[in-house]
Amino acid sequence: MTLLFALCCLALASKVFPQNTAGFDPLNYVDPLIGGSNGGNVFPGASLPYGMAKAVADTNSTSNQGGFTLDGAVVTGFSTMHDSGTGGSPSLGNFALFAYTSCPGGDIDQCAFPKKTRAKFGGFANNSVSARPGTFGITLNSGIQAEMTTTHHTSLFKFTFPSFSPDGQPSQPLILQDLTDLSDSRQDNGTVSVDPTTGRITGSARFLPSFGSGNYVLYFCTDFSGADILDNGIFVNSRASTAVKNLTISRSINGYPLPGGAFVRFASGANPILARTAVSFISTAQACSHAENEIPGFDFAAVSSAATEAWRTKMSPIKVSTNLVSQSMVTNFYSGIYRTMINPQNYTGENPLWQSSEPYFDSFYCIWDLFRSQLPFLTITDPEAVAQMVRSLIDTYQHLGWLPDCRMSLNKGYTQGGSNADNVLADAYLKGIADGVDWDTGYAAVVKDAEVEPYDWCCEGRGGLDSWKALGYIPVQDFDYKGFGTMTRSISRTLEYAYNDFCISQMADGLGKTTDKEKYIESSGNWQNLFKADQTSFWWNGTDTGFVGFFEPRFLNKTWGYQNPLNCSNLDDFSVCSLQNTGRETFESSIWEYGFFVPHDQATLMTMYGGPAAFVRRLDYLHDKNITYIGNEPAFLTVFQYHYAGRPGLSAKRSHFYIPAYFRPTPDGLPGNDDSGAMGSFLAFSMMGLFPNPGQNVYLITPPYFESVNITHPLTGKTATIRNINFDPTYQAIYIQSATLNGSPYTKSWIDHSFFTEGKELVLTLGRNESSWGTRVQDLPPSFGSYAGFNGTYSARRAINARGVRSYTGGFDRWGI
Ligand SMILES: *[C@@H]1O[C@H](CO)[C@@H](O)[C@H](O)[C@H]1NC(C)=O
Ligand SMILES: *[C@@H]1O[C@H](CO)[C@@H](O)[C@H](O)[C@H]1NC(C)=O
Ligand SMILES: *[C@@H]1O[C@H](CO)[C@@H](O)[C@H](O)[C@H]1NC(C)=O
Ligand SMILES: *[C@@H]1O[C@H](CO)[C@@H](O)[C@H](O)[C@H]1NC(C)=O
Ligand SMILES: *[C@@H]1O[C@H](CO)[C@@H](O)[C@H](O)[C@H]1NC(C)=O
Ligand SMILES: *[C@@H]1O[C@H](CO)[C@@H](O)[C@H](O)[C@H]1NC(C)=O
Ligand SMILES: *[C@@H]1O[C@H](CO)[C@@H](O)[C@H](O)[C@H]1NC(C)=O
Ligand SMILES: *[C@@H]1O[C@H](CO)[C@@H](O)[C@H](O)[C@H]1NC(C)=O
Ligand SMILES: *[C@@H]1O[C@H](CO)[C@@H](O)[C@H](O)[C@H]1NC(C)=O
Ligand SMILES: *[C@@H]1O[C@H](CO)[C@@H](O)[C@H](O)[C@H]1NC(C)=O
Ligand SMILES: *[C@@H]1O[C@H](CO)[C@@H](O)[C@H](O)[C@H]1NC(C)=O
Ligand SMILES: *[C@@H]1O[C@H](CO)[C@@H](O)[C@H](O)[C@H]1NC(C)=O
Repeated sequence: MTLLFALCCLALASKVFPQNTAGFDPLNYVDPLIGGSNGGNVFPGASLPYGMAKAVADTNSTSNQGGFTLDGAVVTGFSTMHDSGTGGSPSLGNFALFAYTSCPGGDIDQCAFPKKTRAKFGGFANNSVSARPGTFGITLNSGIQAEMTTTHHTSLFKFTFPSFSPDGQPSQPLILQDLTDLSDSRQDNGTVSVDPTTGRITGSARFLPSFGSGNYVLYFCTDFSGADILDNGIFVNSRASTAVKNLTISRSINGYPLPGGAFVRFASGANPILARTAVSFISTAQACSHAENEIPGFDFAAVSSAATEAWRTKMSPIKVSTNLVSQSMVTNFYSGIYRTMINPQNYTGENPLWQSSEPYFDSFYCIWDLFRSQLPFLTITDPEAVAQMVRSLIDTYQHLGWLPDCRMSLNKGYTQGGSNADNVLADAYLKGIADGVDWDTGYAAVVKDAEVEPYDWCCEGRGGLDSWKALGYIPVQDFDYKGFGTMTRSISRTLEYAYNDFCISQMADGLGKTTDKEKYIESSGNWQNLFKADQTSFWWNGTDTGFVGFFEPRFLNKTWGYQNPLNCSNLDDFSVCSLQNTGRETFESSIWEYGFFVPHDQATLMTMYGGPAAFVRRLDYLHDKNITYIGNEPAFLTVFQYHYAGRPGLSAKRSHFYIPAYFRPTPDGLPGNDDSGAMGSFLAFSMMGLFPNPGQNVYLITPPYFESVNITHPLTGKTATIRNINFDPTYQAIYIQSATLNGSPYTKSWIDHSFFTEGKELVLTLGRNESSWGTRVQDLPPSFGSYAGFNGTYSARRAINARGVRSYTGGFDRWGI
């Protein structure tokens, strides 16, 4: 299996056309600490792109999902497994190391072993922290310096000790390793052993995933280098013994999980001591073999520079002109790109759940977040990785029966809305991702989402399919005896299922499945069935928003339910809007915001909202009144939806409204959880000047935040360029007056993926006022329904809706692509 992969990827590697990076190093503009506080929950430590080993200092912050935080919390350990940007509860953080210069009086029991008590030795000064792609370092107030770097499955930690401990004893360092994780989820029977002679620590334990069902077992193997071993043993709670070398430990019934682990003490701390920890989901033997193969010589400098080089290669496809712009703009951009490649994680060869020669990726955390811009971003900069991710999703379907919606630590994560892996597959399919992907099986997987209801739709597929098919919407208080899940979110699920079906129809079209194409086009119009044309919206204080026509819940008997369109908005601190049983009919977002989630048929939606001018007023109200919040993913596309109303200039303006005001290159600079790298990809796309409508071969054009951007396609080797004429670094001139594509006038406000694969050149001439560019109906981005209603002929569709009958008469030809 390993050999096969090596062959596949050598072949692929030869297709990569490295750019001459002389004079420009994107890594100079990456700050991994962005999002390290204020709930960004970013993983700021050392990792390879998509790496499984992710080494960082863990703090005891209450918001420690990424492990390390810069919020005044203290360090409790140095662990190897992490996720990035997650919400909910902390993920991974397994098998923390901690170090002491010596134990008081030379008595090991005087060293603090449990996580809680060792925290008082974990203080540090903010300016002692250094983070670079591939390397992380910190100096604790105790004087111990910890630096870390990684290979794919192995972390290498370098501890440098002061000559004397705080109580004046010469150094006699103790390094412990704890059977713990960030969320203290360890179950019964964790085991650890230390080899008396070599000091090698091996072990494993069972833990819980942070946003999913089930559990996972992780194994590790730690070796040391740099000093003679004095003694070693195990600890339980606050007591340790050099006589005992093996431990199996219970979770305990209180104070859990009971602290336990192993330690090694060294004769001297005169030289740095290196600790090499490898992890595996297969066995300790596999962990040890990763360690020995990946870092045979404990050469910190070599591992660190290889990691840096791996990042430099991944970042090299995108080059921006730094002329005239502030360093902070460039740092915002490249740091965003960097964060798109921390998660998902490549666990190929590490999946104990099924035998397969396909790649295995994990930490899709979660696809509801990732489908919108992160995976589409990687489709441009790292199509080879996206092909492997798609193959992994399809292989997961083959072995577990369903595409995942969220997946972490080998487990099924909770579904938030639709079966959004359908959007991911369609996006990749339409953009020509092919390398080794079995699209027939991929198509079978998305069709299963649409046709077969899982018994438990907590974590895959869709619920309420009988009602969906009979009524054309998900009813509030549905009757469903076939499958079980949280019976909320009827509006957001209806809107997402409708879009999922559109995505399936696009794949069907490409695969020549005409009947299926028509069928899923039909159901992709189901969103209209929840549109209540006479619905008003009032603020809590009774003031009318002035807008009429909103999605509303509907019962099984086709009568309307009611949810205040502003509930679950950014301004509603009271409603329950997540996966709770008491949750509302829209997930983590209001009816106001979900009211724009018809990505495939903006023309019909706009017609229902009263035409383009009314649509623009509504979008402005959504943003200007803070009904939406850019820190959650449903807001992303709404920034750019002005394009569909023939106002591409307003998309540009709105993008500058949020960047940099809500995205600053500082630890507290992110507006919300990065969600793997979703926020990072929003930044990168927005600043690059092309934003995807995910699941479609469409990028909406706005001026880049830089004078020019070059994007070299890693497989074709062709370079696409976007160049601004009249570039204004104060961002007053952000309105496109005219454009050329490969030298010819270009009037459409959108472009397709061939821009990247064929390396085209888009030149935008900017001005300080909106222009007529991109305003004509024939220049608008594709919409399934007709834009004809723009001049007042939209009443027909309202009549259809009022009858509650599904009828969808648009045509594929409108797509023209
Ligand atoms: C370190 O920075 C964080 C976030 O900016 C801040 O909360 C904390 O107080 C700082 N610590 C010190 C010692 O300045
Ligand atoms: C973190 O540890 C420090 C030092 O022991 C302690 O003062 C602080 O209360 C801890 N914070 C949390 C959230 O546990
Ligand atoms: C832990 O080990 C004990 C003793 O071997 C066994 O009875 C118990 O079932 C194990 N628990 C788990 C969760 O594996
Ligand atoms: C301790 O663990 C090691 C490694 O797993 C094993 O080889 C050894 O037999 C164990 N010793 C005892 C006394 O159980
Ligand atoms: C983009 O590529 C062109 C053509 O090779 C080159 O002249 C230009 O300097 C590049 N721009 C950047 C920002 O690298
Ligand atoms: C994922 O890991 C496998 C096995 O180590 C490797 O062959 C493959 O190239 C990796 N994929 C990416 C995108 O790095
Ligand atoms: C009611 O609240 C809205 C939204 O906060 C505000 O715009 C409006 O001015 C308020 N009206 C009154 C009468 O206070
Ligand atoms: C429809 O169903 C709802 C919810 O069960 C109920 O409140 C309403 O009275 C019903 N209306 C009709 C006309 O049956
Ligand atoms: C809607 O939001 C308002 C404002 O937060 C809150 O007072 C009200 O309870 C919410 N209604 C429901 C049904 O959640
Ligand atoms: C929206 O929020 C921003 C920042 O949180 C604030 O500055 C602004 O005043 C708010 N606008 C309204 C209309 O409440
Ligand atoms: C731009 O618009 C402003 C305000 O509408 C107007 O005063 C100005 O003359 C316009 N500039 C150009 C170059 O058209
Ligand atoms: C208005 O719509 C009608 C019907 O689609 C069309 O024939 C006509 O050309 C449109 N007029 C304009 C000015 O776009």
